[in-house]
Amino acid sequence: MPSRSLYPHQWSWDSAFIAIGLRHISPLRAQTELDTLLAAQWADGRIPHIVFNPSVPLDAYFPSPDFWRSSTAGRAAGAPRTVQTSGIVQPPVHALAAWLVHLADPGLSRARGFLTRMYPRLAAWHRYLLHRRDLGGGGLVSVVHPWEQGMDNSPCWDRPLSRVTPAPARSFRRADLDHGSPEGRPTDLDYGRYVRLASDYRDRGYADGAGEFAVEDPAFNALLIASEYALARIADELGAAGSARQARAERLTAALVERLWEPAAGMFLCRDVRAGELIPERGVSGLIPLLLPTLPHDLAATLVRTMRGPHFGLGGTTRLVPSYDLLGEAFDPHRYWRGPAWINTNWLLEGGLRLHGERGRADALRKGILHTADASGFAEYVDPYTAQACGATGFGWTAALTLDLLHDRPAGRGNGVTAIKGGDRG
Ligand code: DGY
Repeated sequence: MPSRSLYPHQWSWDSAFIAIGLRHISPLRAQTELDTLLAAQWADGRIPHIVFNPSVPLDAYFPSPDFWRSSTAGRAAGAPRTVQTSGIVQPPVHALAAWLVHLADPGLSRARGFLTRMYPRLAAWHRYLLHRRDLGGGGLVSVVHPWEQGMDNSPCWDRPLSRVTPAPARSFRRADLDHGSPEGRPTDLDYGRYVRLASDYRDRGYADGAGEFAVEDPAFNALLIASEYALARIADELGAAGSARQARAERLTAALVERLWEPAAGMFLCRDVRAGELIPERGVSGLIPLLLPTLPHDLAATLVRTMRGPHFGLGGTTRLVPSYDLLGEAFDPHRYWRGPAWINTNWLLEGGLRLHGERGRADALRKGILHTADASGFAEYVDPYTAQACGATGFGWTAALTLDLLHDRPAGRGNGVTAIKGGDRG
């Protein structure tokens, strides 16, 4: 679980990051983390964003299993019968995590058939995303809820969310405010819209295609592509040809550039599929494609410049990359994904900098992450200027990714992200 108080169940992308850290101290626990999550996969291939712990009281977290009703409302989509889950998804970091967990102890992994077990499930997961979620018809995946992209209240969603009629405030009770300060969390109006989108999706039996909210997000798609590269490595290891996956990852990279690159902003933007336009907001999500090995050189150089420029301030006004534009109208240094810096996005960018030969800048970012994680009590997120701790402390992925950065690696290898590159077999 990401946090005993705020998030007391198993979260999908948190688990992937947690496995990436755990592999250094217990490859077996890291394998179990992913095995447990994938045991809750739906028959249509989706990996749910939450797998609920049945021993946690219903009122400890909202929305709880009785809201999602996965085993009944999700029956047609193939939700599992015995375990309760949510019905939306989260960024596909899982194949990347599985490959890194394997590399931590290939002998143990082979002896336990870890990748043999993971591969068909991860392939089904990617198939679900690429076939059922290409709502814009351009080859990229759309998210149908801000919680799916993981950066819940990013200002990038304000415009598409403004079209959604919020559920009445009295129709639900938030549990997050029992643990987190309201200034650091999404607003009640945001929650009303999150609830409306999720209950409409549930009431359609979690069938894809008809929802009001559909956004192509750069980070979600970049993580899918990174995971597709990792699946190519996994296929090679299992003796299945990984070259088709490698080629698909390259095609998806070209689609990402074609649909989401905005030269005037010097970065990638989100595409509002329902309105048919790019969303003019700079979120950290638009820098994450830096982790792609076949990103054209000039685009990678432009992303590094943008990261260091006035909108994100890295190495100047900030030591970690903030979640949102420092100059943006909606910027708020303490409110969740509207400004604070997060460790997982900075870990991804650290890998991206290294992958594109920016060793000095990657080293500086690594130092900043390690210092901030320790000084903040492994906070969920921090003020990007002062590094003041916000949200939960003792947060799972903050600790796990710190472990990953601390782990001794041969010089120049960098963090796990660089292991997706062809030819680097660890
Ligand atoms: C929350 O509850 O805040 C989560 O981010 C939703 O998954």
